Amino acid sequence: MAVRRLHPDQPEQFAFTVENTAWAKGVIAKYPEGKQASAIIPLLWRAQEQSGGWLPEPAIRSVCDMLGMAYIRGLEIATFYTMFQLSPVGSKAHVQVCGTTPCMLNGARALVDVCKRRIAEEQHQLSPDGTLSWEEVECIGNCANAPVVQIYKDTYEDLTPATLEAIIDGYEAGKPLKPGSQIGRRASCPAGGPTTLTDASLYDGSVMGAWRQRFAESAPAGVVEVVQPSALASPAHKAAVAEGTSPSSPGGTAPNPAALAALANAGLVKELNARGGGAPLSSDALEKMKSEYAKRPSGGGASTPELLKEPRGKGDDLGLIWGVGDVLARRLNDMGIWHFEQIAKWTPADVAWFEAQMDGFKGRIARDKWIEQCQKLAAGWRPDSAVGERPKG
Ligand code: FES
Repeated sequence: MAVRRLHPDQPEQFAFTVENTAWAKGVIAKYPEGKQASAIIPLLWRAQEQSGGWLPEPAIRSVCDMLGMAYIRGLEIATFYTMFQLSPVGSKAHVQVCGTTPCMLNGARALVDVCKRRIAEEQHQLSPDGTLSWEEVECIGNCANAPVVQIYKDTYEDLTPATLEAIIDGYEAGKPLKPGSQIGRRASCPAGGPTTLTDASLYDGSVMGAWRQRFAESAPAGVVEVVQPSALASPAHKAAVAEGTSPSSPGGTAPNPAALAALANAGLVKELNARGGGAPLSSDALEKMKSEYAKRPSGGGASTPELLKEPRGKGDDLGLIWGVGDVLARRLNDMGIWHFEQIAKWTPADVAWFEAQMDGFKGRIARDKWIEQCQKLAAGWRPDSAVGERPKG
């Protein structure tokens, strides 16, 4: 990685906008007295966004002043993390190419060649029209999908020179391609499909004898019964399988439907079928599911709030909700919650569902008035510059 130095041409001064000042004060207020310096990363990041994608030296000093920190502390952080750009970047994209071992072994050098050809010969140099720039960085944490580049907050994975060219084309045209794997793999699943548990006999019931026995012996009393093949061939059983209300499969050991009904409800039985793919579950898996269901309100019958695969257009800044920091906002996004109006219409059952997903969260939604806040935020209200203002409603 290149030595990271401040750019020789710096603006005279930096000041957060009124909106960002209010936001920064809210972030600082989340930390206990005396620990405000912990807010430096989000504040530097916001300063970088406000400055057009790079972090001028006056911005570092300004953030240090807000946090009561020595300038050298801010400079140490800004020059250490490659998430902070110390010189101007392309107005449309700054491409960070991972050059660490897994990516390098998988073709990162060819990606660097694309950047040199399409953007600029040297790192941190702007393209002739000023819209693109690039640099080589150390591992960006997606090694399984190497080689990888990061552009702003997104990563593009499983790249070839051709796919990187297409990604650059997308940014140039103002239509960025969808981030993630470019070969269609989900998360970091094996690129060529499953490599373990591939023996088909594991799923056709032919080797279930010993497993059935062990399952029947170790499962909680009354929960499991061994279903005989003759019973599985019965019309009633076939009808139950067709309806998705029987968790059993031919030749397998099935959770006893009556016992399961007592344990939870029909939703659990359907989930057993879905998770087991029709095959019987181990007693460990069954116990785990029982405990998950026990955590759910109404024995598994709670409603699930509206969850989205992706935001409708641009997601809301959930960090504006009192008590929601950057990490929690990302977690909400990961769960499919992107907009204030989603939270604004939560019912008590939705709140109970959400709290069941989060450790140590019980009562926090009501205490911090998330729903009232989101109703106001969805209607256009924004916190004023008073630090920590809570909606009264
Ligand atoms: S080595 Fe490239 S993402 Fe880790």
